[in-house]
Amino acid sequence: MIIAIDGPAASGKGTIARRIAAHFGLPHLDTGLIYRATAAAVVAMGKSPTDPVAGAQAARALDISRFDEAELRSAQMGEAASIVAAIPEVRAALVDYQRTFARQKGGAVLDGRDIGTAICPDADIKLFVTATSHTRAGRRAKELASRGEAAEFDSVLADISKRDARDSGRASAPLIQADDAIVLDTTQLDVDGAVAAAIQIVEERSAQPD
Ligand code: C5P
Repeated sequence: MIIAIDGPAASGKGTIARRIAAHFGLPHLDTGLIYRATAAAVVAMGKSPTDPVAGAQAARALDISRFDEAELRSAQMGEAASIVAAIPEVRAALVDYQRTFARQKGGAVLDGRDIGTAICPDADIKLFVTATSHTRAGRRAKELASRGEAAEFDSVLADISKRDARDSGRASAPLIQADDAIVLDTTQLDVDGAVAAAIQIVEERSAQPD
């Protein structure tokens, strides 16, 4: 069973994906981390995240285990990842890794922006997890503050809106809901409520004949 979970920043998709994977005993890939690691590699080369040659080179040589996850999760790296991720050559270089992960025996859960549309268009279940930008900014500000990063609500909201616009507006595999995705709006839900709703969707969907 392949479960594709897409959605904008701080929608809750990462937590939902992790908890769904644990619940159904499936491996999980957070594809945002791959783009964050590519951006970190570009910066480490002394290049700009807008540089397509450096981006493609970094993506092709990517060894995700070389990176510290906490550093990759910084707000600054999220922004750099979104710039790198708009480069078609970068996306192309990362497709095989993601598809190989998805097609392992027994299936997998992948979360990102283009899993249901570009990476696994034949996924068994597609979820599009969303929430209002105010709710997402509130969550992200809390998360950043808990890590000691600057987290003023207005600037977090501005960053999230900028990232949404870049991710949805790019030409190459933009953030968009797949036609056959089920929307899960987490605006009114806490983490446990969102996870329970997602598990229910997966159970109902997997019980249905094709
Ligand atoms: O999900 P996360 O915030 O970690 O992703 C960082 C950035 O990586 C996103 O803003 C997006 O630009 C990019 N990304 C992507 N496609 C994916 C996953 C992430 O373009 N499948």
